[in-house]
Amino acid sequence: MSRAYNFSAGPAAIPDAVLDRIRDDIPDWNGTGMSVMEVSHRSKEFVEVAERAEQDLRDLLAIPDDYSVLFPQGGATLQFAMVPLNVSAEGQSVDYVQTGSWSKKAIAEASKYCNVNVVADSSDKNFTYVPQEESWNRSENAAYLHYCANETIAGVEFPFIPDSGDTPLISDMSSTILSRPLDVSRFGIIYAGAQKNIGPAGVTLVIVRKDLIGQARPSTPSLLDYSVYDKSGSMSNTPPVFTWYVAGLVFQHLKEHGGLDAVAELNERKAKKLYAAIDDSSFYSNPVRVDCRSWMNVPFILQDSTLDAKFLAESEAAGFTNLKGHRSVGGMRASIYNAMPEAGIDALIGFMREFERTNG
Ligand SMILES: Cc1ncc(COP(=O)(O)O)c(C=O)c1O
Repeated sequence: MSRAYNFSAGPAAIPDAVLDRIRDDIPDWNGTGMSVMEVSHRSKEFVEVAERAEQDLRDLLAIPDDYSVLFPQGGATLQFAMVPLNVSAEGQSVDYVQTGSWSKKAIAEASKYCNVNVVADSSDKNFTYVPQEESWNRSENAAYLHYCANETIAGVEFPFIPDSGDTPLISDMSSTILSRPLDVSRFGIIYAGAQKNIGPAGVTLVIVRKDLIGQARPSTPSLLDYSVYDKSGSMSNTPPVFTWYVAGLVFQHLKEHGGLDAVAELNERKAKKLYAAIDDSSFYSNPVRVDCRSWMNVPFILQDSTLDAKFLAESEAAGFTNLKGHRSVGGMRASIYNAMPEAGIDALIGFMREFERTNG
């Protein structure tokens, strides 16, 4: 069997060790004579999985006790609506930073429910930077301040955590969660879809400060109300058991490999190598301001875009999949989440150099 180096932005690669464990577990999980997909979510065995997953995540991120960890469905996109429905009153102002396609989508969704003030916007330079915090035009009484910590499409990552003062800070961390240690206490809510650094799509991670739970608007559907998840251990209806189980295996795997300090060291090294290879060449380039370059998503364009199709075909044939950039940016994008081994980066750099040598 040969595994591709999968550079997909999501659903993304899952660690080989976790896939091996899933394969072994499938026919007879935990001595039940069933796969995990076939057992009741209310069984003792599954409740243990859910509790362990939460505890391991709490250990990894050092989540303080005054935060709840929720596992709803609906992806990060549903959080674009759940956040305003739970944390703002009708007609109230909310602040959003617009740094790319995902924050733009969050803004469009929130605009259905509240009065959105865009405090800063980097569309003037095609979303290639994060505007200086001092220039943000914040409202006086915003219910919260929202930003996307890592814009997956343009490969722009905040090099700082905004200082929101007493206003709850809310972040979409779908494509950066678990890539490095994080001071959770700075946030009101952190949310992330699973399909990058957590596991398969289907479960969403929401870390929410407890005082922000229980304020949903009266018309909020039950399954969009954080308090319903909080009270039921995210089991008020049937949860996505398989995804949750895999997420738990990924958390265990990260703990066994030195936790987020070790993950961060490796991620930084991987990203630096790839950016250095791009910057050292006049054949490839990356347009993002250097201090905002993402560790997780590395877009790069070929000087001569007529070679794009050839690059993609040859890279695919060489075992590097999903390198095509998002249509709004063009060129290529290498998403190098936690599960991408350093050897995959080295191999990609080798391929890029050889392609440049033969086509440059
Ligand atoms: C930063 C970011 N936010 C939100 C989303 C949407 O996530 P989902 O598909 O889980 O709704 C994505 C998906 O790739 C993303 O990268």
